[in-house]
Amino acid sequence: MKVIEIEGGRELTGQIRISGAKNATVALIPAAILTDEEATICNVPEITDTDALCDILKELNVNVNRSTESLVINPQNMKNVEIQEEFSKKLRASYYFMGALLGKYKKAVMYFPGGCSIGARPIDLHLKGFEALGAKVTNEKNKYTVEAEELHGANIYLDIASVGATINIMLAAVRAKGKTVIDNAAKEPEIVNVATFLNNMGAKITGAGTSTIKIEGVDHLHKCFHEVIPDRIEAGTYLIIAALCGKDLRIDNVIPEHIDSLTSKLEEMGIKLDIGIDYVRVLEVPKKLKATDIKTAVYPGFATDLQQPFTVLLTQAEGISRVTETIWENRFMHVPYLNALGSDIAVENQTAKIQGPTELKGCEVVATDLRAGAAMVAAGLKATGKTTITNSEHILRGYESIIEKLTNVGAKITLKEI
Ligand code: UD1
Repeated sequence: MKVIEIEGGRELTGQIRISGAKNATVALIPAAILTDEEATICNVPEITDTDALCDILKELNVNVNRSTESLVINPQNMKNVEIQEEFSKKLRASYYFMGALLGKYKKAVMYFPGGCSIGARPIDLHLKGFEALGAKVTNEKNKYTVEAEELHGANIYLDIASVGATINIMLAAVRAKGKTVIDNAAKEPEIVNVATFLNNMGAKITGAGTSTIKIEGVDHLHKCFHEVIPDRIEAGTYLIIAALCGKDLRIDNVIPEHIDSLTSKLEEMGIKLDIGIDYVRVLEVPKKLKATDIKTAVYPGFATDLQQPFTVLLTQAEGISRVTETIWENRFMHVPYLNALGSDIAVENQTAKIQGPTELKGCEVVATDLRAGAAMVAAGLKATGKTTITNSEHILRGYESIIEKLTNVGAKITLKEI
């Protein structure tokens, strides 16, 4: 088990450079198999989710070459074999191979994906989308077979603006015959990044980033070069850390527009920010932070993935703040551990009520999932004394070089294997 230890209460100064977006990368890697030619993707974060997807590529006999920050994927000798459970269960995003394999071979066989336990996480919308495109879906003991004689364009309305379903349907539809329209599509920046990648390969996708995406099927996709956008969730996490313990701490390689919902909340709390073209710097944090309420929502609303780290900042605000989670049913697992560190948070239904400010004191806590883990790091950096975070492998799934990045700005943080 991986354990992170933090000696908290230190001031952090300097710059933190944001890596490529995890949630774009995990879709781009499966998307790369849609061509028979080479795809070069740069700014790929070195996180364990990337490694897990590369392992699946290798199982499919795809040639993968990793050099610093870039990934060269060549599916020339690819074989469409069944993706075993040991690979699919390592992460949620393994399900993008369903759409990509279906799009390319008209057949995908794989086991149910894994990922953080933050809710039931069904894939019914993905499967309904595949069926609308002409596929037949069968499920036997957790193994899904999705197969079609021919894929044809269709009009698909998503009951929920799901990120995963939007991308997966896009992957299946790019090589289908005719036109597909996805209505009530999710609008997250990662979806735009994936659509740009596919268009660079010769796909005809318009409307990504809006709630209606149109895909005109093409026969062939070709080689391409692509860059992953900066990770807005990583950027938001470090910005929250900067608000908690920064002194002139600058977060670099950011697309500020992607984190508008966070920066406006920070300003509402009284924090002064310097928002540049590609950076955000915390200029001043008032002695008394104002309490505020947030409600998670689909993009451009407040990102659910930042809700847990943001709660840590709210423990330092004067008065009552409320965090309402609307996307995932089980995303308050960090709360008992924050309370162990000294916060005063009560959860009722889908709302956490935070009474602040409270002093945080280090103790042993658990990273129950990726972003809960990020919240523990943020809390451990603020807390006085030593915080030990067990199950920290969750954190390494999504934060590239977290130990080095924080050490470079003055944190006392180490990673151990026990
Ligand atoms: C993605 C992100 C995750 C983020 C989430 C919401 C990746 C790899 N992960 O997850 O970090 O928290 O978006 O921004 O990009 N739903 C269904 N049926 C489906 C699919 C989804 O009911 O077939 C529901 C889910 O249970 C959830 C909601 O729709 O309540 C949103 O899920 P979705 O947008 O699909 O999240 P993911 O793509 O899994």
